[in-house]
Amino acid sequence: MRLLVCGGAGFIGSNFVRLRVRDEGDEVVVLDKLTYAGRRENLQDLPDVELVVGAIEDGDAVDRAIGDGVDAIVNFAAETHVDRSISEPDAFVKTNGQGTYELLEAARRHQVSRYVQISTDEVYGSIEEGSFTEESPIQPSSPYSASKAGADLLVSSYFHTYGLETLICRGSNNYGPWQYPEKLIPLMVLNAMHGDPLPVYGDGMQVRNWLYVEDFGRGIGHVLAHGRPGEAYNVGGPDECPNIEVVNRIVEQTGADPSIIEYVTDRPGHDRRYSLGSEKVRALGWEAQVRFEEGLRRTVLWYRDNAWWWEPIRSGDYREYYERQYGRKLG
Ligand code: NAD
Ligand code: DAU
Repeated sequence: MRLLVCGGAGFIGSNFVRLRVRDEGDEVVVLDKLTYAGRRENLQDLPDVELVVGAIEDGDAVDRAIGDGVDAIVNFAAETHVDRSISEPDAFVKTNGQGTYELLEAARRHQVSRYVQISTDEVYGSIEEGSFTEESPIQPSSPYSASKAGADLLVSSYFHTYGLETLICRGSNNYGPWQYPEKLIPLMVLNAMHGDPLPVYGDGMQVRNWLYVEDFGRGIGHVLAHGRPGEAYNVGGPDECPNIEVVNRIVEQTGADPSIIEYVTDRPGHDRRYSLGSEKVRALGWEAQVRFEEGLRRTVLWYRDNAWWWEPIRSGDYREYYERQYGRKLG
Protein backbone atom coordinates (compact mmCIF):
# COMPACT_ATOMS: atom_id res chain seq x y z
CA MET A 1 0.00 0.00 0.00
CA ARG A 2 1.20 3.54 -0.68
CA LEU A 3 0.18 5.79 2.22
CA LEU A 4 0.26 9.52 2.78
CA VAL A 5 0.71 9.98 6.53
CA CYS A 6 0.14 13.59 7.58
CA GLY A 7 1.77 14.51 10.89
CA GLY A 8 3.97 11.41 10.56
CA ALA A 9 6.95 13.13 12.24
CA GLY A 10 5.05 13.52 15.53
CA PHE A 11 4.59 11.05 18.37
CA ILE A 12 1.77 8.74 17.25
CA GLY A 13 2.34 9.35 13.55
CA SER A 14 6.00 8.26 13.63
CA ASN A 15 5.16 5.16 15.70
CA PHE A 16 2.43 4.33 13.15
CA VAL A 17 4.79 4.79 10.20
CA ARG A 18 7.37 2.51 11.86
CA LEU A 19 4.72 -0.16 12.39
CA ARG A 20 3.45 0.04 8.81
CA VAL A 21 6.89 -0.10 7.21
CA ARG A 22 8.07 -2.91 9.51
CA ASP A 23 4.92 -5.09 9.64
CA GLU A 24 3.05 -4.31 6.42
CA GLY A 25 5.84 -3.32 4.04
CA ASP A 26 3.96 -0.15 3.10
CA GLU A 27 5.47 2.63 1.03
CA VAL A 28 5.02 5.80 3.09
CA VAL A 29 5.17 9.51 2.30
CA VAL A 30 5.01 11.79 5.33
CA LEU A 31 3.69 15.35 5.07
CA ASP A 32 4.63 17.30 8.18
CA LYS A 33 5.11 20.98 9.00
CA LEU A 34 7.75 20.08 11.63
CA THR A 35 6.30 22.27 14.37
CA TYR A 36 7.93 22.06 17.83
CA ALA A 37 6.27 18.62 18.15
CA GLY A 38 7.38 17.18 14.80
CA ARG A 39 10.99 16.10 14.42
CA ARG A 40 13.09 14.49 11.69
CA GLU A 41 14.76 12.46 14.44
CA ASN A 42 11.47 10.61 14.95
CA LEU A 43 11.88 9.02 11.51
CA GLN A 44 15.66 8.76 11.34
CA ASP A 45 15.68 4.96 11.51
CA LEU A 46 13.34 4.78 8.48
CA PRO A 47 15.47 5.88 5.52
CA ASP A 48 12.94 4.73 2.89
CA VAL A 49 10.21 7.03 4.17
CA GLU A 50 9.90 10.21 2.12
CA LEU A 51 9.39 13.36 4.21
CA VAL A 52 7.70 16.33 2.56
CA VAL A 53 7.96 19.38 4.80
CA GLY A 54 4.78 21.42 4.53
CA ALA A 55 1.47 22.31 6.15
CA ILE A 56 -1.77 20.39 5.63
CA GLU A 57 -3.57 23.71 5.20
CA ASP A 58 -1.39 24.40 2.14
CA GLY A 59 -3.12 22.71 -0.81
CA ASP A 60 0.03 22.87 -3.00
CA ALA A 61 2.10 21.09 -0.36
CA VAL A 62 -0.61 18.42 -0.09
CA ASP A 63 -0.61 17.96 -3.89
CA ARG A 64 3.18 17.62 -3.89
CA ALA A 65 3.04 14.99 -1.18
CA ILE A 66 0.36 12.98 -2.98
CA GLY A 67 2.42 13.10 -6.18
CA ASP A 68 1.19 10.45 -8.64
CA GLY A 69 -1.30 9.15 -6.14
CA VAL A 70 -1.72 7.26 -2.87
CA ASP A 71 -4.05 4.45 -1.79
CA ALA A 72 -5.00 6.21 1.43
CA ILE A 73 -4.46 9.33 3.50
CA VAL A 74 -4.09 8.95 7.27
CA ASN A 75 -4.23 12.29 9.04
CA PHE A 76 -2.45 12.66 12.37
CA ALA A 77 -1.37 16.27 11.74
CA ALA A 78 -2.76 18.52 14.46
CA GLU A 79 -2.02 20.87 17.27
CA THR A 80 -2.48 18.47 20.16
CA HIS A 81 -1.73 19.94 23.57
CA VAL A 82 -4.76 21.03 25.61
CA ASP A 83 -2.76 23.53 27.73
CA ARG A 84 -1.44 25.27 24.62
CA SER A 85 -4.98 25.42 23.18
CA ILE A 86 -6.04 27.36 26.28
CA SER A 87 -3.28 29.97 25.96
CA GLU A 88 -3.05 30.10 22.12
CA PRO A 89 -6.12 28.64 20.43
CA ASP A 90 -5.66 30.15 16.95
CA ALA A 91 -3.21 27.54 15.62
CA PHE A 92 -5.69 24.84 16.67
CA VAL A 93 -8.48 26.30 14.57
CA LYS A 94 -6.16 26.71 11.58
CA THR A 95 -4.43 23.33 11.58
CA ASN A 96 -7.16 21.11 12.98
CA GLY A 97 -10.00 22.85 11.11
CA GLN A 98 -8.71 24.44 7.90
CA GLY A 99 -5.99 21.78 7.55
CA THR A 100 -8.50 18.92 7.66
CA TYR A 101 -10.64 20.71 5.08
CA GLU A 102 -7.68 21.04 2.67
CA LEU A 103 -6.85 17.36 3.04
CA LEU A 104 -10.44 16.33 2.34
CA GLU A 105 -10.48 18.52 -0.76
CA ALA A 106 -7.20 16.99 -1.92
CA ALA A 107 -8.59 13.50 -1.33
CA ARG A 108 -11.49 14.35 -3.64
CA ARG A 109 -9.24 15.99 -6.24
CA HIS A 110 -6.94 12.98 -6.42
CA GLN A 111 -9.72 10.40 -6.00
CA VAL A 112 -8.00 8.82 -3.01
CA SER A 113 -9.81 5.60 -2.06
CA ARG A 114 -9.70 5.95 1.71
CA TYR A 115 -9.30 8.84 4.14
CA VAL A 116 -8.65 8.11 7.83
CA GLN A 117 -8.97 10.94 10.34
CA ILE A 118 -7.18 10.43 13.65
CA SER A 119 -9.37 11.83 16.39
CA THR A 120 -9.66 11.67 20.14
CA ASP A 121 -11.88 10.57 23.02
CA GLU A 122 -11.89 14.25 24.09
CA VAL A 123 -14.55 15.09 21.47
CA TYR A 124 -17.14 13.39 23.74
CA GLY A 125 -16.20 15.52 26.77
CA SER A 126 -15.98 14.18 30.31
CA ILE A 127 -17.85 11.13 31.70
CA GLU A 128 -18.18 10.34 35.43
CA GLU A 129 -19.20 6.69 35.01
CA GLY A 130 -19.48 4.18 32.19
CA SER A 131 -17.95 4.63 28.74
CA PHE A 132 -18.66 6.56 25.56
CA THR A 133 -19.77 4.69 22.46
CA GLU A 134 -19.53 6.03 18.91
CA GLU A 135 -23.19 7.11 19.27
CA SER A 136 -22.53 9.34 22.30
CA PRO A 137 -23.07 13.09 21.76
CA ILE A 138 -20.09 15.23 20.83
CA GLN A 139 -19.52 17.66 23.74
CA PRO A 140 -15.95 18.97 23.70
CA SER A 141 -14.68 21.20 26.54
CA SER A 142 -11.41 22.77 25.36
CA PRO A 143 -10.44 24.70 22.23
CA TYR A 144 -8.32 21.64 21.33
CA SER A 145 -11.16 19.14 21.58
CA ALA A 146 -13.62 21.54 19.96
CA SER A 147 -11.32 21.93 16.95
CA LYS A 148 -10.98 18.13 16.70
CA ALA A 149 -14.77 17.71 17.00
CA GLY A 150 -15.31 20.25 14.22
CA ALA A 151 -12.86 18.33 12.03
CA ASP A 152 -14.71 15.04 12.70
CA LEU A 153 -18.01 16.58 11.63
CA LEU A 154 -16.43 17.93 8.44
CA VAL A 155 -14.95 14.52 7.66
CA SER A 156 -18.37 12.85 8.06
CA SER A 157 -19.95 15.48 5.82
CA TYR A 158 -17.53 14.54 3.00
CA PHE A 159 -18.77 10.96 3.20
CA HIS A 160 -22.46 11.96 3.11
CA THR A 161 -22.12 14.73 0.55
CA TYR A 162 -19.38 13.58 -1.82
CA GLY A 163 -19.18 9.84 -1.15
CA LEU A 164 -15.55 10.10 -0.05
CA GLU A 165 -14.64 6.88 1.81
CA THR A 166 -13.87 8.41 5.19
CA LEU A 167 -13.13 6.72 8.52
CA ILE A 168 -12.59 8.26 11.96
CA CYS A 169 -10.47 6.67 14.73
CA ARG A 170 -10.98 8.14 18.19
CA GLY A 171 -8.13 7.15 20.48
CA SER A 172 -7.77 7.48 24.23
CA ASN A 173 -4.60 8.86 25.93
CA ASN A 174 -1.55 7.44 24.16
CA TYR A 175 1.84 6.95 25.79
CA GLY A 176 5.13 5.34 24.76
CA PRO A 177 8.45 6.21 23.09
CA TRP A 178 8.96 9.44 21.10
CA GLN A 179 6.30 11.50 22.94
CA TYR A 180 7.11 15.19 23.35
CA PRO A 181 7.68 15.90 27.08
CA GLU A 182 4.90 18.47 27.47
CA LYS A 183 2.42 15.57 27.98
CA LEU A 184 1.86 13.99 31.41
CA ILE A 185 3.89 10.77 31.21
CA PRO A 186 7.09 11.93 29.47
CA LEU A 187 7.06 15.21 31.43
CA MET A 188 6.87 13.33 34.73
CA VAL A 189 9.47 10.75 33.66
CA LEU A 190 12.04 13.35 32.63
CA ASN A 191 11.37 15.62 35.63
CA ALA A 192 11.65 12.63 37.96
CA MET A 193 14.94 11.61 36.35
CA HIS A 194 16.26 15.15 36.90
CA GLY A 195 14.83 15.64 40.42
CA ASP A 196 12.61 18.49 39.14
CA PRO A 197 9.16 19.05 40.73
CA LEU A 198 6.28 16.90 39.39
CA PRO A 199 3.37 19.34 38.81
CA VAL A 200 0.05 17.59 39.46
CA TYR A 201 -2.99 19.64 38.40
CA GLY A 202 -5.77 20.13 40.98
CA ASP A 203 -6.36 17.09 43.20
CA GLY A 204 -4.70 14.65 40.76
CA MET A 205 -7.83 12.47 40.70
CA GLN A 206 -8.63 13.01 37.00
CA VAL A 207 -8.82 9.68 35.21
CA ARG A 208 -7.39 8.81 31.80
CA ASN A 209 -7.71 5.63 29.76
CA TRP A 210 -4.10 4.72 28.84
CA LEU A 211 -3.34 3.22 25.42
CA TYR A 212 0.15 2.08 24.40
CA VAL A 213 1.01 3.86 21.18
CA GLU A 214 1.68 0.68 19.16
CA ASP A 215 -1.75 -0.64 20.15
CA PHE A 216 -3.33 2.51 18.76
CA GLY A 217 -1.29 2.09 15.56
CA ARG A 218 -2.55 -1.48 15.17
CA GLY A 219 -6.12 -0.32 15.82
CA ILE A 220 -5.81 2.31 13.10
CA GLY A 221 -4.50 -0.43 10.78
CA HIS A 222 -7.61 -2.53 11.44
CA VAL A 223 -9.89 0.42 10.72
CA LEU A 224 -7.96 1.29 7.55
CA ALA A 225 -8.22 -2.29 6.28
CA HIS A 226 -11.68 -3.36 7.50
CA GLY A 227 -13.61 -0.27 8.66
CA ARG A 228 -16.93 0.68 7.09
CA PRO A 229 -16.74 3.98 5.19
CA GLY A 230 -18.60 6.83 6.89
CA GLU A 231 -18.14 5.29 10.35
CA ALA A 232 -16.24 6.30 13.48
CA TYR A 233 -14.36 3.77 15.67
CA ASN A 234 -13.30 4.24 19.30
CA VAL A 235 -9.91 2.78 20.19
CA GLY A 236 -9.57 2.82 23.98
CA GLY A 237 -6.76 1.60 26.22
CA PRO A 238 -7.13 -1.48 28.47
CA ASP A 239 -6.50 0.34 31.77
CA GLU A 240 -7.67 3.54 33.40
CA CYS A 241 -5.79 5.30 36.16
CA PRO A 242 -6.02 8.55 38.15
CA ASN A 243 -3.17 10.95 37.38
CA ILE A 244 -1.70 10.83 40.89
CA GLU A 245 -1.37 7.07 40.61
CA VAL A 246 0.42 7.43 37.27
CA VAL A 247 2.82 9.89 38.91
CA ASN A 248 3.38 7.62 41.92
CA ARG A 249 4.25 4.72 39.63
CA ILE A 250 6.74 6.90 37.74
CA VAL A 251 8.35 7.99 41.02
CA GLU A 252 8.69 4.34 41.96
CA GLN A 253 10.14 3.24 38.61
CA THR A 254 12.65 6.08 38.37
CA GLY A 255 13.69 5.85 42.03
CA ALA A 256 12.88 9.56 42.52
CA ASP A 257 12.17 11.15 45.90
CA PRO A 258 8.34 11.32 46.33
CA SER A 259 8.65 14.75 47.97
CA ILE A 260 9.15 16.28 44.47
CA ILE A 261 5.41 15.75 43.79
CA GLU A 262 3.79 19.19 43.87
CA TYR A 263 0.06 20.00 43.57
CA VAL A 264 -0.42 23.05 41.31
CA THR A 265 -3.35 25.15 40.05
CA ASP A 266 -5.80 23.11 37.99
CA ARG A 267 -6.21 23.39 34.21
CA PRO A 268 -9.26 25.56 33.34
CA GLY A 269 -12.21 23.46 32.11
CA HIS A 270 -10.32 20.29 33.05
CA ASP A 271 -12.20 17.12 32.00
CA ARG A 272 -12.49 14.77 34.97
CA ARG A 273 -12.58 11.41 33.26
CA TYR A 274 -12.40 9.92 29.77
CA SER A 275 -13.51 6.40 28.96
CA LEU A 276 -14.08 4.71 25.63
CA GLY A 277 -16.05 1.59 24.79
CA SER A 278 -14.15 -0.14 21.97
CA GLU A 279 -16.50 -3.01 21.03
CA LYS A 280 -16.85 -1.80 17.46
CA VAL A 281 -13.12 -1.94 16.67
CA ARG A 282 -12.86 -5.25 18.55
CA ALA A 283 -15.41 -6.63 16.12
CA LEU A 284 -12.86 -5.82 13.38
CA GLY A 285 -10.35 -8.10 15.14
CA TRP A 286 -8.39 -5.60 17.26
CA GLU A 287 -7.41 -6.12 20.87
CA ALA A 288 -4.98 -4.05 22.97
CA GLN A 289 -1.85 -6.11 23.62
CA VAL A 290 0.04 -3.97 26.14
CA ARG A 291 -1.27 -3.43 29.68
CA PHE A 292 -0.43 -0.18 31.45
CA GLU A 293 2.10 -1.65 33.87
CA GLU A 294 4.18 -3.19 31.06
CA GLY A 295 3.79 -0.18 28.73
CA LEU A 296 4.86 2.27 31.42
CA ARG A 297 7.91 0.13 32.23
CA ARG A 298 8.91 0.10 28.53
CA THR A 299 8.34 3.85 28.28
CA VAL A 300 10.47 4.73 31.32
CA LEU A 301 13.28 2.53 29.97
CA TRP A 302 13.07 4.17 26.54
CA TYR A 303 13.47 7.67 28.01
CA ARG A 304 16.29 6.44 30.23
CA ASP A 305 18.14 4.99 27.20
CA ASN A 306 17.49 7.78 24.71
CA ALA A 307 18.90 10.99 26.16
CA TRP A 308 20.15 11.85 22.63
CA TRP A 309 16.48 12.32 21.68
CA TRP A 310 15.20 14.44 24.60
CA GLU A 311 18.31 16.43 25.56
CA PRO A 312 17.98 18.91 22.65
CA ILE A 313 14.29 19.36 23.56
CA ARG A 314 14.91 20.04 27.24
CA SER A 315 17.73 22.45 26.49
CA GLY A 316 15.85 24.18 23.59
CA ASP A 317 12.54 26.08 23.16
CA TYR A 318 10.82 23.70 25.54
CA ARG A 319 12.51 25.48 28.47
CA GLU A 320 10.72 28.71 27.60
CA TYR A 321 7.39 26.93 27.22
CA TYR A 322 7.90 25.18 30.58
CA GLU A 323 8.75 28.42 32.37
CA ARG A 324 5.66 30.13 30.94
CA GLN A 325 3.35 27.21 31.75
CA TYR A 326 4.65 26.30 35.21
CA GLY A 327 6.15 29.61 36.36
CA ARG A 328 9.41 27.94 37.37
CA LYS A 329 12.71 26.93 35.80
CA LEU A 330 13.69 23.43 34.74
CA GLY A 331 16.72 22.10 36.63
P1 NAD B 1 2.07 15.44 18.20
O1 NAD B 1 1.83 16.82 18.68
O2 NAD B 1 3.17 14.63 18.78
O3 NAD B 1 2.32 15.46 16.61
C1 NAD B 1 1.60 16.27 15.73
C2 NAD B 1 2.34 16.27 14.41
O4 NAD B 1 1.61 17.09 13.49
C3 NAD B 1 3.75 16.88 14.50
O5 NAD B 1 4.65 16.11 13.76
C4 NAD B 1 3.58 18.26 13.88
O6 NAD B 1 4.75 18.77 13.30
C5 NAD B 1 2.49 17.98 12.85
N1 NAD B 1 1.75 19.18 12.47
C6 NAD B 1 1.21 20.12 13.30
N2 NAD B 1 0.61 21.07 12.58
C7 NAD B 1 0.75 20.72 11.28
C8 NAD B 1 0.32 21.30 10.06
N3 NAD B 1 -0.38 22.43 10.04
N4 NAD B 1 0.62 20.67 8.91
C9 NAD B 1 1.34 19.52 8.92
N5 NAD B 1 1.79 18.94 10.04
C10 NAD B 1 1.49 19.53 11.21
O7 NAD B 1 0.67 14.71 18.34
P2 NAD B 1 0.28 13.21 18.65
O8 NAD B 1 0.12 13.07 20.10
O9 NAD B 1 1.17 12.32 17.89
O10 NAD B 1 -1.19 13.17 18.02
C11 NAD B 1 -1.40 12.80 16.66
C12 NAD B 1 -2.89 12.79 16.36
O11 NAD B 1 -3.56 11.87 17.22
C13 NAD B 1 -3.57 14.14 16.58
O12 NAD B 1 -4.52 14.33 15.56
C14 NAD B 1 -4.26 14.00 17.94
O13 NAD B 1 -5.39 14.82 18.01
C15 NAD B 1 -4.62 12.53 17.92
N6 NAD B 1 -4.71 11.87 19.23
C16 NAD B 1 -3.71 12.01 20.15
C17 NAD B 1 -3.78 11.31 21.35
C18 NAD B 1 -2.69 11.39 22.40
O14 NAD B 1 -2.86 10.88 23.50
N7 NAD B 1 -1.53 11.99 22.12
C19 NAD B 1 -4.88 10.49 21.61
C20 NAD B 1 -5.89 10.39 20.65
C21 NAD B 1 -5.78 11.08 19.46
O1 DAU C 1 -7.43 11.74 25.56
C1 DAU C 1 -6.70 11.89 24.39
C2 DAU C 1 -5.92 13.16 24.48
O2 DAU C 1 -4.88 12.93 25.42
C3 DAU C 1 -5.34 13.63 23.16
O3 DAU C 1 -6.39 13.93 22.29
C4 DAU C 1 -4.46 14.87 23.37
O4 DAU C 1 -3.85 15.24 22.16
C5 DAU C 1 -3.41 14.54 24.40
O5 DAU C 1 -2.64 15.68 24.67
C6 DAU C 1 -4.05 14.01 25.68
O6 DAU C 1 -4.77 15.06 26.37
P1 DAU C 1 -4.76 15.18 27.96
O7 DAU C 1 -5.08 16.56 28.33
O8 DAU C 1 -5.53 14.09 28.59
O9 DAU C 1 -3.19 14.84 28.19
P2 DAU C 1 -2.05 15.53 29.07
O10 DAU C 1 -0.86 14.64 28.96
O11 DAU C 1 -1.88 16.97 28.77
O12 DAU C 1 -2.65 15.41 30.52
C7 DAU C 1 -3.06 14.15 31.06
C8 DAU C 1 -3.67 14.41 32.43
O13 DAU C 1 -2.62 14.85 33.31
C9 DAU C 1 -4.69 15.51 32.44
O14 DAU C 1 -5.69 15.20 33.39
C10 DAU C 1 -3.92 16.74 32.92
C11 DAU C 1 -2.88 16.15 33.84
N1 DAU C 1 -1.59 16.87 33.90
C12 DAU C 1 -0.95 17.15 32.74
C13 DAU C 1 0.26 17.82 32.74
C14 DAU C 1 0.96 18.14 31.45
C15 DAU C 1 -1.02 17.21 35.15
O15 DAU C 1 -1.59 16.93 36.20
N2 DAU C 1 0.17 17.88 35.13
C16 DAU C 1 0.83 18.20 34.00
O16 DAU C 1 1.91 18.83 34.08
